[in-house]
Amino acid sequence: MILNNSVDRWGAVAKSFHWLIALLILGQLALGTIAEEARLSPLKLDLFVWHKSIGVTILLLVVLRVAWRLSNPPPAAPHSIPAWETTLARIGHALLYLLMFAVPLTGWWVSDTTRIPFKAFWLMPMPDLMEANREMSDLAGDVHGALTKLLLLVVVIHIAAALRHHFFLHNKILTRMLPWGGESR
Ligand code: HEM
Ligand code: HEM
Repeated sequence: MILNNSVDRWGAVAKSFHWLIALLILGQLALGTIAEEARLSPLKLDLFVWHKSIGVTILLLVVLRVAWRLSNPPPAAPHSIPAWETTLARIGHALLYLLMFAVPLTGWWVSDTTRIPFKAFWLMPMPDLMEANREMSDLAGDVHGALTKLLLLVVVIHIAAALRHHFFLHNKILTRMLPWGGESR
Protein backbone atom coordinates (compact mmCIF):
# COMPACT_ATOMS: atom_id res chain seq x y z
CA MET A 1 0.00 0.00 0.00
CA ILE A 2 1.41 3.39 -1.02
CA LEU A 3 0.70 6.04 1.61
CA ASN A 4 1.85 9.20 -0.21
CA ASN A 5 0.30 10.92 -3.23
CA SER A 6 2.32 10.90 -6.45
CA VAL A 7 2.10 12.93 -9.68
CA ASP A 8 -0.83 10.87 -11.00
CA ARG A 9 -2.22 8.97 -7.99
CA TRP A 10 -3.86 9.61 -4.62
CA GLY A 11 -2.10 7.80 -1.75
CA ALA A 12 -3.86 5.66 0.86
CA VAL A 13 -3.79 8.38 3.55
CA ALA A 14 -5.49 11.06 1.39
CA LYS A 15 -8.07 8.50 0.19
CA SER A 16 -8.80 7.36 3.75
CA PHE A 17 -9.29 10.96 4.92
CA HIS A 18 -11.54 11.70 1.92
CA TRP A 19 -13.90 8.74 2.39
CA LEU A 20 -13.97 8.68 6.19
CA ILE A 21 -14.79 12.41 6.37
CA ALA A 22 -17.30 12.17 3.48
CA LEU A 23 -19.21 9.36 5.26
CA LEU A 24 -19.16 11.18 8.59
CA ILE A 25 -20.39 14.43 7.00
CA LEU A 26 -23.25 12.75 5.14
CA GLY A 27 -24.25 11.03 8.40
CA GLN A 28 -24.01 14.33 10.26
CA LEU A 29 -26.28 16.13 7.80
CA ALA A 30 -28.94 13.47 8.46
CA LEU A 31 -28.35 13.28 12.23
CA GLY A 32 -28.44 17.10 12.64
CA THR A 33 -31.76 17.26 10.79
CA ILE A 34 -33.27 14.35 12.75
CA ALA A 35 -32.11 15.81 16.09
CA GLU A 36 -33.45 19.25 15.17
CA GLU A 37 -36.89 17.85 14.16
CA ALA A 38 -37.24 15.53 17.20
CA ARG A 39 -39.65 16.51 19.98
CA LEU A 40 -38.02 17.70 23.21
CA SER A 41 -37.15 14.46 25.06
CA PRO A 42 -34.14 12.67 26.58
CA LEU A 43 -33.65 11.04 23.14
CA LYS A 44 -33.38 14.46 21.47
CA LEU A 45 -30.71 15.51 23.98
CA ASP A 46 -28.79 12.25 23.37
CA LEU A 47 -29.02 12.72 19.58
CA PHE A 48 -27.49 16.18 20.02
CA VAL A 49 -24.64 14.82 22.18
CA TRP A 50 -23.88 12.34 19.37
CA HIS A 51 -24.22 15.12 16.75
CA LYS A 52 -21.86 17.49 18.58
CA SER A 53 -19.37 14.72 19.45
CA ILE A 54 -19.17 13.43 15.87
CA GLY A 55 -18.97 17.08 14.72
CA VAL A 56 -15.89 17.89 16.81
CA THR A 57 -14.33 14.58 15.69
CA ILE A 58 -14.84 15.71 12.07
CA LEU A 59 -13.21 19.06 12.90
CA LEU A 60 -10.17 17.27 14.33
CA LEU A 61 -9.95 14.95 11.29
CA VAL A 62 -10.16 17.94 8.93
CA VAL A 63 -7.24 19.65 10.74
CA LEU A 64 -5.17 16.46 10.34
CA ARG A 65 -6.28 16.14 6.69
CA VAL A 66 -5.20 19.69 5.86
CA ALA A 67 -1.83 19.15 7.57
CA TRP A 68 -1.34 16.01 5.43
CA ARG A 69 -2.52 17.84 2.30
CA LEU A 70 -0.01 20.68 2.87
CA SER A 71 2.89 18.23 3.17
CA ASN A 72 1.60 16.04 0.30
CA PRO A 73 0.74 17.78 -3.00
CA PRO A 74 -2.27 16.29 -4.84
CA PRO A 75 -1.87 14.48 -8.18
CA ALA A 76 -2.04 16.65 -11.31
CA ALA A 77 -5.20 16.78 -13.43
CA PRO A 78 -5.05 14.54 -16.53
CA HIS A 79 -3.96 16.47 -19.67
CA SER A 80 -7.33 15.89 -21.32
CA ILE A 81 -9.02 18.31 -18.87
CA PRO A 82 -9.08 21.97 -20.00
CA ALA A 83 -7.43 24.56 -17.70
CA TRP A 84 -10.71 26.38 -16.91
CA GLU A 85 -12.21 23.14 -15.59
CA THR A 86 -9.20 22.46 -13.40
CA THR A 87 -9.53 26.00 -11.99
CA LEU A 88 -13.23 25.46 -11.32
CA ALA A 89 -12.47 22.17 -9.55
CA ARG A 90 -9.83 23.93 -7.41
CA ILE A 91 -12.34 26.61 -6.39
CA GLY A 92 -14.94 23.93 -5.56
CA HIS A 93 -12.47 21.94 -3.46
CA ALA A 94 -11.31 25.10 -1.64
CA LEU A 95 -14.97 25.88 -0.84
CA LEU A 96 -15.45 22.33 0.48
CA TYR A 97 -12.40 22.70 2.74
CA LEU A 98 -13.66 26.09 3.97
CA LEU A 99 -17.09 24.63 4.78
CA MET A 100 -15.54 21.60 6.49
CA PHE A 101 -14.15 24.11 9.01
CA ALA A 102 -16.99 26.64 9.06
CA VAL A 103 -19.81 24.11 9.62
CA PRO A 104 -18.41 22.41 12.77
CA LEU A 105 -17.06 25.72 14.13
CA THR A 106 -20.47 27.41 13.85
CA GLY A 107 -22.04 24.27 15.41
CA TRP A 108 -19.63 24.68 18.32
CA TRP A 109 -20.62 28.35 18.47
CA VAL A 110 -24.31 27.33 18.90
CA SER A 111 -23.40 24.80 21.57
CA ASP A 112 -21.13 27.23 23.42
CA THR A 113 -23.73 30.03 23.63
CA THR A 114 -26.52 27.82 25.01
CA ARG A 115 -26.79 26.84 28.65
CA ILE A 116 -26.55 23.12 27.93
CA PRO A 117 -23.12 21.85 29.07
CA PHE A 118 -21.44 19.65 26.47
CA LYS A 119 -19.04 16.76 27.07
CA ALA A 120 -17.84 15.11 23.84
CA PHE A 121 -19.02 11.46 23.92
CA TRP A 122 -20.21 12.14 27.50
CA LEU A 123 -16.54 12.10 28.54
CA MET A 124 -14.58 15.18 27.51
CA PRO A 125 -15.77 18.57 28.72
CA MET A 126 -15.30 21.11 25.91
CA PRO A 127 -13.78 24.51 26.75
CA ASP A 128 -16.45 27.10 27.56
CA LEU A 129 -15.38 30.09 25.44
CA MET A 130 -18.45 32.36 25.38
CA GLU A 131 -21.19 33.37 27.79
CA ALA A 132 -24.61 31.78 27.33
CA ASN A 133 -26.77 34.20 25.34
CA ARG A 134 -30.13 33.35 23.78
CA GLU A 135 -29.96 35.88 20.92
CA MET A 136 -26.42 34.85 20.05
CA SER A 137 -27.25 31.13 20.06
CA ASP A 138 -30.29 31.76 17.83
CA LEU A 139 -28.08 33.66 15.39
CA ALA A 140 -25.41 30.95 15.55
CA GLY A 141 -28.12 28.31 14.91
CA ASP A 142 -29.31 30.20 11.82
CA VAL A 143 -25.76 30.55 10.47
CA HIS A 144 -24.95 26.87 11.20
CA GLY A 145 -28.21 25.76 9.52
CA ALA A 146 -27.59 27.93 6.43
CA LEU A 147 -24.00 26.72 6.06
CA THR A 148 -25.09 23.06 6.28
CA LYS A 149 -27.46 23.70 3.36
CA LEU A 150 -24.67 25.33 1.36
CA LEU A 151 -22.40 22.37 2.18
CA LEU A 152 -25.05 19.92 0.96
CA LEU A 153 -25.44 21.89 -2.27
CA VAL A 154 -21.69 21.99 -2.96
CA VAL A 155 -21.38 18.26 -2.14
CA VAL A 156 -24.18 17.41 -4.60
CA ILE A 157 -22.41 19.42 -7.34
CA HIS A 158 -19.10 17.75 -6.37
CA ILE A 159 -20.62 14.26 -6.70
CA ALA A 160 -22.28 15.17 -10.02
CA ALA A 161 -18.90 16.42 -11.33
CA ALA A 162 -17.17 13.18 -10.26
CA LEU A 163 -19.85 11.08 -12.00
CA ARG A 164 -19.63 13.25 -15.14
CA HIS A 165 -15.88 12.57 -15.35
CA HIS A 166 -16.50 8.84 -15.09
CA PHE A 167 -19.56 8.29 -17.28
CA PHE A 168 -19.31 11.10 -19.86
CA LEU A 169 -15.65 12.12 -20.11
CA HIS A 170 -14.35 8.57 -19.48
CA ASN A 171 -11.24 9.69 -17.58
CA LYS A 172 -9.81 8.26 -14.34
CA ILE A 173 -10.67 11.15 -11.99
CA LEU A 174 -13.24 9.08 -10.08
CA THR A 175 -11.47 5.72 -10.15
CA ARG A 176 -8.17 7.15 -8.90
CA MET A 177 -9.97 8.38 -5.75
CA LEU A 178 -11.68 5.01 -5.12
CA PRO A 179 -10.04 2.83 -2.43
CA TRP A 180 -9.05 0.23 -5.03
CA GLY A 181 -8.34 2.72 -7.86
CA GLY A 182 -4.93 3.44 -9.35
CA GLU A 183 -3.17 6.08 -11.44
CA SER A 184 -4.87 8.61 -13.72
CA ARG A 185 -3.56 7.45 -17.12
C1 HEM B 1 -19.50 18.63 9.72
C2 HEM B 1 -20.10 18.80 10.86
C3 HEM B 1 -21.57 19.14 11.04
C4 HEM B 1 -22.64 19.04 10.19
C5 HEM B 1 -22.65 18.54 8.75
C6 HEM B 1 -23.80 19.52 10.91
C7 HEM B 1 -25.09 19.54 10.40
C8 HEM B 1 -26.20 20.02 11.07
C9 HEM B 1 -27.54 20.08 10.53
C10 HEM B 1 -27.96 19.61 9.14
C11 HEM B 1 -28.34 20.62 11.48
C12 HEM B 1 -29.85 20.93 11.35
C13 HEM B 1 -30.00 22.33 10.86
C14 HEM B 1 -31.39 22.72 10.55
O1 HEM B 1 -32.26 21.85 10.35
O2 HEM B 1 -31.63 23.96 10.48
C15 HEM B 1 -27.52 20.93 12.63
C16 HEM B 1 -27.98 21.52 13.80
C17 HEM B 1 -27.18 21.71 14.92
N1 HEM B 1 -25.85 21.37 15.05
FE1 HEM B 1 -24.65 20.66 13.62
N2 HEM B 1 -23.42 19.92 12.16
C18 HEM B 1 -22.06 19.70 12.28
C19 HEM B 1 -21.26 19.94 13.40
C20 HEM B 1 -21.74 20.39 14.62
C21 HEM B 1 -20.93 20.60 15.80
C22 HEM B 1 -19.41 20.37 15.89
C23 HEM B 1 -21.76 21.04 16.78
C24 HEM B 1 -21.45 21.42 18.21
C25 HEM B 1 -20.32 21.15 18.87
C26 HEM B 1 -23.09 21.13 16.21
C27 HEM B 1 -24.21 21.55 16.88
C28 HEM B 1 -25.45 21.72 16.34
C29 HEM B 1 -26.57 22.29 17.07
C30 HEM B 1 -26.56 22.78 18.52
C31 HEM B 1 -27.66 22.30 16.17
C32 HEM B 1 -29.07 22.85 16.43
C33 HEM B 1 -29.09 24.28 15.93
C34 HEM B 1 -30.36 25.02 16.32
O3 HEM B 1 -30.96 24.68 17.34
O4 HEM B 1 -30.73 25.96 15.58
N3 HEM B 1 -23.05 20.72 14.89
N4 HEM B 1 -26.23 20.55 12.35
C1 HEM C 1 -19.40 15.02 2.14
C2 HEM C 1 -18.93 14.49 1.06
C3 HEM C 1 -17.64 14.90 0.37
C4 HEM C 1 -16.74 15.89 0.63
C5 HEM C 1 -16.79 16.92 1.77
C6 HEM C 1 -15.69 15.81 -0.37
C7 HEM C 1 -14.59 16.66 -0.42
C8 HEM C 1 -13.56 16.57 -1.34
C9 HEM C 1 -12.41 17.44 -1.41
C10 HEM C 1 -12.15 18.62 -0.47
C11 HEM C 1 -11.64 17.02 -2.43
C12 HEM C 1 -10.32 17.65 -2.89
C13 HEM C 1 -9.17 16.90 -2.29
C14 HEM C 1 -7.88 17.67 -2.32
O1 HEM C 1 -7.59 18.37 -3.31
O2 HEM C 1 -7.14 17.58 -1.32
C15 HEM C 1 -12.28 15.87 -3.02
C16 HEM C 1 -11.79 15.14 -4.10
C17 HEM C 1 -12.53 14.20 -4.76
N1 HEM C 1 -13.79 13.74 -4.44
FE1 HEM C 1 -14.88 14.24 -2.84
N2 HEM C 1 -15.98 14.77 -1.22
C18 HEM C 1 -17.15 14.19 -0.80
C19 HEM C 1 -17.80 13.11 -1.39
C20 HEM C 1 -17.44 12.55 -2.58
C21 HEM C 1 -18.18 11.50 -3.28
C22 HEM C 1 -19.47 10.84 -2.75
C23 HEM C 1 -17.50 11.24 -4.43
C24 HEM C 1 -17.82 10.27 -5.55
C25 HEM C 1 -18.99 10.10 -6.09
C26 HEM C 1 -16.33 12.10 -4.44
C27 HEM C 1 -15.36 12.12 -5.43
C28 HEM C 1 -14.19 12.81 -5.37
C29 HEM C 1 -13.12 12.65 -6.35
C30 HEM C 1 -13.14 11.73 -7.56
C31 HEM C 1 -12.08 13.52 -5.95
C32 HEM C 1 -10.71 13.68 -6.65
C33 HEM C 1 -10.69 14.81 -7.62
C34 HEM C 1 -9.32 14.92 -8.27
O3 HEM C 1 -8.62 13.92 -8.40
O4 HEM C 1 -8.96 16.04 -8.62
N3 HEM C 1 -16.32 12.89 -3.31
N4 HEM C 1 -13.46 15.62 -2.36
